[in-house]
Amino acid sequence: MTSDKVKIAPSILSADFSKLGKEIYDLDKAGCDYIHIDVMDGHFVPNITIGANVVKSIRKFSEKIFDVHLMIDPVKKYIPDFVNAGADIITIHHEINEDTLDSILLVKKLKKKAGISIKPGTPANIVEKYINHVDLILVMTVEPGFGGQKFMIEQLEKIKLIKKMIGNRKIDIEVDGGIDLNTAKSSIEAGANILVSGSTIFKCQSYKNIIKKLRNV
Ligand code: DX5
Ligand code: ZN
Repeated sequence: MTSDKVKIAPSILSADFSKLGKEIYDLDKAGCDYIHIDVMDGHFVPNITIGANVVKSIRKFSEKIFDVHLMIDPVKKYIPDFVNAGADIITIHHEINEDTLDSILLVKKLKKKAGISIKPGTPANIVEKYINHVDLILVMTVEPGFGGQKFMIEQLEKIKLIKKMIGNRKIDIEVDGGIDLNTAKSSIEAGANILVSGSTIFKCQSYKNIIKKLRNV
C-alpha cells in the first residue's frame, strides 16, 4: 500500500450532500486516489455526519478506495456494518474509551486495512502500541469535528517523529485537516504520503485541477 507517490483523499464532509453520489462520481473521474469518509457521532466529536447505510448507498458511485475515518465512541460494534457497507480502510481514534487496539484487530480479522488516528493533543509515542498492527497512521492537524479549520503547524514535528518510528515498515502516514497547497507541501516534506482535503478541493471549480496541484506541490 505504501508508495512514494502522494495520494489524494478528498473528504466528502465538504461535499454537497444533496447530490453525494454525483460528487463521489465526479471526484473519482477527477483522479482522486481515495474517498475519505468522515463518520461522526456527536459524542466523540461535536458534530454528526453519516452512518454505514449512507456509505453503502454511495459505494456504487466509485470503485476507488473508501477510506473511512471513524470519529465515534463506542466503535467496535459498528465495525462489521462499515465492512459490509464497502469500507476498504477503517481508521479508529486512540482517544476513545473503548480499547482501540481491540477494534483494530477486528478490522484486520475482517480483512480490511486498519488505521490509527491521533488528535492534535496526543503525543507521537502513543503510536508505538499500534505500529505492528496498522496499515496507516492518521495525524489530525485540526481538532476533529469540522472542515475548514486552520492547519496546526506544530503537528509537523509529530509527523516527522512518526515517520522515524515507522522505519521500513509498510505504513502510510495520512494527514487530515487544513490541507491547502502550502500545508500539503510541508506535510509531504515531513513524511506524509496521503493528504486528506475537504474545503480546499470542494471550493474549487475544477476538482481535477486542484487534485493534480495538491499531488504535485
Ligand atoms: C475533520 C475531518 C476532516 C475534514 C477536513 O474532523 O476529519 O476530514 O473534513 O476538512 P478540511 O480539509 O476542510 O480541513
Ligand atoms: Zn477525516
